[in-house]
Amino acid sequence: MRLSVNIDHIATLRQARRGRDPDPVAAAILAELAGAHGITVHLRGDRRHIQERDLYILRESLRIALNVEVAMTPEALKVMKEVKPDLVTLVPERPEEVTTEGGVDLAAQRVDVEQYIGLYRDAGIETSLFINPDPETVKLAGKLAPRLVELNTAEYAKGEPGEGQAVALKRVVEAAKTAARLRLEVHAGHDLNYRNASVLAAAAREITEVSIGHAIVARAALVGMDRAVKDMLALIKGEG
Ligand code: PXP
Repeated sequence: MRLSVNIDHIATLRQARRGRDPDPVAAAILAELAGAHGITVHLRGDRRHIQERDLYILRESLRIALNVEVAMTPEALKVMKEVKPDLVTLVPERPEEVTTEGGVDLAAQRVDVEQYIGLYRDAGIETSLFINPDPETVKLAGKLAPRLVELNTAEYAKGEPGEGQAVALKRVVEAAKTAARLRLEVHAGHDLNYRNASVLAAAAREITEVSIGHAIVARAALVGMDRAVKDMLALIKGEG
């Protein structure tokens, strides 16, 4: 199973001061050096974290796959045609949301989805669809013919251990099997962390890649605190 590291939160921290640090491009390169198979970013309409400048430098610098999550808008399509990432993941986007709240409603947005998959295909850019792991949605995705889908793992990953979480896990596993039968490559993500990702990996061999952001950036901030404080202490003591 491959890991694509979502670095949006590094950009969120930078935007808190509207400055240059921490640079998400530097974080992406460190993730690449650590063995990540891909980098994922979400270019939001409100540009609250990732900026266009980040995309161009990431495209230029990365040797691993660049996946950009975008809403189905002409504006995002225009930027993607210039950046040409390895993969564009189509996601629903609500300006007030804290993070992506669920998969694309394929039944309601079928026309848009077909149109945008076609427009991206014409531009030579591969698309993935972020969808909820329910059987009807997966079957509909198969008809709309992206090459791959990303299953929303939020219900499983946010659940407390117990029957409810086991049911949610089964739903993701079944959805992955159905998608694979429909010859879709299967990715998964949302709210995966250091406790639940390995359980999912062992349960659903059809999932070829997970996209994980919050848990990795949160851990990086904590495991890096000791070194960051010691470096500053050394500097102010004149030892640096
Ligand atoms: N997949 C999609 C479609 C997302 O929108 C996000 C969050 O940006 C992720 C995966 C990663 O989720 P998390 O940050 O909870 O790991």
